[in-house]
Amino acid sequence: MWKDESLAGKRVLVTAGASGIGLEIARALAEAGARVAVCDVAGDGLERVCAELPGVVAVRADVSKESDVEALFQALDQAFGGLDVLVNNAGVAGPTGGVETLSLADWERTLAVNITGQFLCARAAVPRLRQGRSPSIVNLSSAAGHLGMPGRSAYSASKWAVVGFTKSLALELGADGIRVNTVLPGAVDGPRIRAVIAAKAESLGKPLEEVTRDYTSQAALGRMVTMRDIADMVRFLCSDQAASVHGQEMVVDGLTQALS
Ligand SMILES: NC(=O)c1ccc[n+]([C@@H]2O[C@H](COP(=O)([O-])OP(=O)(O)OC[C@H]3O[C@@H](n4cnc5c(N)ncnc54)[C@H](O)[C@@H]3O)[C@@H](O)[C@H]2O)c1
Repeated sequence: MWKDESLAGKRVLVTAGASGIGLEIARALAEAGARVAVCDVAGDGLERVCAELPGVVAVRADVSKESDVEALFQALDQAFGGLDVLVNNAGVAGPTGGVETLSLADWERTLAVNITGQFLCARAAVPRLRQGRSPSIVNLSSAAGHLGMPGRSAYSASKWAVVGFTKSLALELGADGIRVNTVLPGAVDGPRIRAVIAAKAESLGKPLEEVTRDYTSQAALGRMVTMRDIADMVRFLCSDQAASVHGQEMVVDGLTQALS
């Protein structure tokens, strides 16, 4: 049972909160009493979130588009009159394959969502966070943000960028009392990782079962992590229990030392 009450009434934005890890984060923060807003590109997903989490503010926005992000923060101003926590969760898996097979469009799209999206949201959020209550930013990176990942160079490059972005913001914003941290999940059980595994099996010409086994055995715990594991870490980082945790890379991966 979560005992900390510091999140009660806090105004939080979770990007890409209509499904997957973002939705689980939105649930965990709502359970802790936060006032939750989510954005996503998937309108049907947003409708489902509104049905599940009463009172959630749901805005359709692509985080890689400057005009969408501006409209998103205007909607937040109207709904909440400010912001206390930004969870930069949106991120796409990007292309799978050797570097010589990647298209420039796929490379640029991966960076546009995974790092430029975090920049655009942070840029809009910071002036609001300066007025907020024990404000913080949590950026989603990945185990691929501190390890290399063969066949996923666009994704890995974008997630290493998230770590550098987080460290830099932490140094910039610490004096203003805005904490900034990043979470590095390992393989998270769910639809997305299954799609990634299928793409990898196809790209390597290996059986699906073999690649699935590689993914589950790469963590010392011998299993994937859960979406709730990630949501719990994000909730901790946004809470006053983490009041002195700043500029950190919180790895939640069951100890993964190499990615297949
Ligand atoms: N799933 C994993 O195994 C895993 C592992 C490490 C890190 N991560 C990171 O965690 C975060 C969430 O991952 P996930 O598995 O829940 O993702 P996902 O692929 O399941 O997508 C979740 C949501 O993102 C939305 N989305 C996609 N592009 C968007 C955009 N441009 N703007 C707004 N919304 C957008 C989708 O509509 C979807 O609702 C990502 O940053 C991801 O890189 C995931």
